[in-house]
Amino acid sequence: MNKTPDIRAFRPEKLFKPRNFIKPALSQKQYLEIGAGKGMHAMQFAEANPDKELIAVERTKNKFDVFAQRAKELKLDNLTPVHADALPYVVHAFPAKSLDGVFLLYPNPEPKSAAQRWLNMPFFEFLLSRMKDGASVVLASNIESYIDEAEQQARELWQLPVERKVIPKTSSRTHFEVKYLQRGELCQELVITKPEGYQTRFDY
Ligand SMILES: C[S@@+](CC[C@H](N)C(=O)[O-])C[C@H]1O[C@@H](n2cnc3c(N)ncnc32)[C@H](O)[C@@H]1O
Repeated sequence: MNKTPDIRAFRPEKLFKPRNFIKPALSQKQYLEIGAGKGMHAMQFAEANPDKELIAVERTKNKFDVFAQRAKELKLDNLTPVHADALPYVVHAFPAKSLDGVFLLYPNPEPKSAAQRWLNMPFFEFLLSRMKDGASVVLASNIESYIDEAEQQARELWQLPVERKVIPKTSSRTHFEVKYLQRGELCQELVITKPEGYQTRFDY
């Protein structure tokens, strides 16, 4: 059994439902993408995995509008684009142990605000609580210090197993990934897995 992480507990009761919130009907194979941008990965994933459902959340209106329009044209019935801040959305949309996987692809690096990086946030514990045992978070970045810090936080603060991989130069999952790889930058990803029996303060 893991011990309580040394970080203040997230306060889900403080977050109101996002505007126009619709509670999603969840599937047995439910995935979540946070910060989906214009939805390139979300649409590829939904097309390639017709047996899986993806809810892809994007907070920035103009990116979301492009994503929603393209997704509508593709008529992918296993993809739900959502315009919302992921924190209140996750609080209100998902019960404990409902997610099979989470994608955090090229999150904002937040160079001046370490507290805003995903694995440094109390919210990360809540996100873990929404995942099934055995589910993984895939976190990709072109910023080595972001990956170094996230890997350390995953192992030491959250006590989670992590796999670290170099993303092949031919990969093209997101607009940011394409841009960084074309520039010759090193892109890496962490696959952070929630082990069997892992406990959080939100397992209800
Ligand atoms: C650097 S962009 C990467 C977009 C896309 N994943 C890609 O790789 O092309 C990060 C995105 O995360 C979104 N984002 C950041 N925080 C968010 C939050 N709390 N909820 C939803 N989206 C968020 C931003 O609006 C932005 O579009």
